[in-house]
Amino acid sequence: MDKIQKLIEENVAYLIVFTLLIISVAMLVEILPLMFSKSTTQPTPGVKPYNALQLAGRDVYIREGCYNCHSQMIRPFRAETERYGHYSVAGESVYDHPFQWGSKRTGPDLARVGGRYSDEWHVVHLMNPRDVVPESNMPAFPWLAVNKVDPAKVQAGMTALTKVGVPYTKEEIAKAPEMVEGKTEMDAVVAYLQGLGLALKGIR
Ligand code: HEC
Repeated sequence: MDKIQKLIEENVAYLIVFTLLIISVAMLVEILPLMFSKSTTQPTPGVKPYNALQLAGRDVYIREGCYNCHSQMIRPFRAETERYGHYSVAGESVYDHPFQWGSKRTGPDLARVGGRYSDEWHVVHLMNPRDVVPESNMPAFPWLAVNKVDPAKVQAGMTALTKVGVPYTKEEIAKAPEMVEGKTEMDAVVAYLQGLGLALKGIR
């Protein structure tokens, strides 16, 4: 045993090879099972792919960098579940490419914000957060009310997502432009926020 240890520790090539071997085995053991486990690959009951308008809203959310201040991952601790509701589970994010979990919380977690406020509240809040939360340091996003959603882009986005396993039907993709026609980015982002975390809402 001593001989083997001496050999590995004194020969950098062996050290590198054995280190990589150990890391690879550890990764196989930790990551491979998750790729086949139902709890991480199947949607939680009630979780559906985003509709066209919500998907457009998700794109706005990512473009505006909302994730820089908001996580969408409730951790399994008492203080978290008391405040936000049921902790996040992997099956809720199967249609999120990329997922928005995060750990940076300048603002509150948004994983279960769906239904917490009215649509009007969100519009006022996004136009100028200080109108509803005087002490807020969240930036205002007034241009969302002016910018229109691009129907062609939404359609292309849905088609791309089918390639990574989101089960949009041909019909849903065909109807997407109709659903977002004339809608603003504000409508889209509010639709997205209102759909967040509903599957496990009210369950603790
Ligand atoms: C610079 C950091 C920052 C950015 C960027 C940011 N927010 Fe916020 N957000 C906050 C803070 C702080 C609060 C808490 C005060 C408040 O409600 O305004 C908040 C609150 C919220 C709330 C209310 C959550 C609750 O449970 O009360 C929503 C919804 C929200 N933000 C959505 C967004 C969206 C959508 C974007 C991107 C368009 C965004 N935020 C970008 C900091 C940020």
